[in-house]
Amino acid sequence: MGIVASAPAKIILFGEHFVVYGEPAIVLAIDKRAYVKAEKRNDTNLHVRSTNLNLSGNFEKSTFKIEHGDAKEAKMKFEPIRQAVEKIREKCGQDIGVDIEINSTIPVGAGLGSSAAVVAASTLAVGTLLDVKLSKEEIFRMTFEAEQVVHGTPSGIDPAISTFGGVLLFQMDTGFKPLDVKMDLPLVIGDTGVERSTRVQVERVREIVDNFPRIAEPMMRAAREIVLRAIDAFKENDLNTLGELMNMNHALLYGVGVSEESLEWLSYAARKAGALGAKLTGAGGGGCMIALSKDEKLEKVLEAIQRAGGRPFVARKTDEGVRIE
Ligand code: PMV
Repeated sequence: MGIVASAPAKIILFGEHFVVYGEPAIVLAIDKRAYVKAEKRNDTNLHVRSTNLNLSGNFEKSTFKIEHGDAKEAKMKFEPIRQAVEKIREKCGQDIGVDIEINSTIPVGAGLGSSAAVVAASTLAVGTLLDVKLSKEEIFRMTFEAEQVVHGTPSGIDPAISTFGGVLLFQMDTGFKPLDVKMDLPLVIGDTGVERSTRVQVERVREIVDNFPRIAEPMMRAAREIVLRAIDAFKENDLNTLGELMNMNHALLYGVGVSEESLEWLSYAARKAGALGAKLTGAGGGGCMIALSKDEKLEKVLEAIQRAGGRPFVARKTDEGVRIE
């Protein structure tokens, strides 16, 4: 009998990029989840299969053998899972083989934290299977460390939101703080389908900040004010203000060079169809945009994003972090 665990995807609602320079950001877990089933094996191998990516392979100790799909891709995608599973086996003290099957509803490579969600869910599923009790704090640590080995993500935003769920305020020097957001946040997420690299986008911002420090500095301050105003808007259930703040945040991100044609098209289309606000989310240069909308306009916004060439879906905030199904 197997154990199934799941963990949510993330979006950055406010403050991406400026967060790298010490400003705050607001991150949200959404109701798209990665599901991982873990079962014991009769040998000591770790077998991983991803139904979405059509990849499967086998780790015998640290030697990886591909079964299905591209070996390099599979090794890169599965390595953080192996790292996390190794840690759990060490805690368990027994060399038990594990079968892992991944089913995810999160678009891959779009900045929605699919990789961290898979690792967090794998950690909880394998921990439960091998009777290793793990606190959420431990799951976060293990996911963070496993992700760092492969992706080198310094901020840890993705592992944190996948583990804890809800809404988190993040700042480099103070870390994560949960925000108690009671209001519903109806969103349409539009995937541009344009590939992007977080590293390249972060470098692009660095160049602008270095070349125009006296222009960048007030932009940073404005980004911080947007986050602070958003926290007030959450308390007041003020969806309209949140929408306006999203538009302003997008303008700042455009200013530091990380928007791109399709992100502009999709954001314009969403606003024109009645969204209260729209912005790129995450690294930019492609990937996804998000639009905040009243419930009654969601369908129109979704259609508009689709007509503008995006792949849209409706998403809502979820307070459920990593969990056993
Ligand atoms: O890689 P993404 O799309 O989740 O975005 C990363 C967010 C940045 O602020 C651009 C970088 C970071 O490490 O915080």
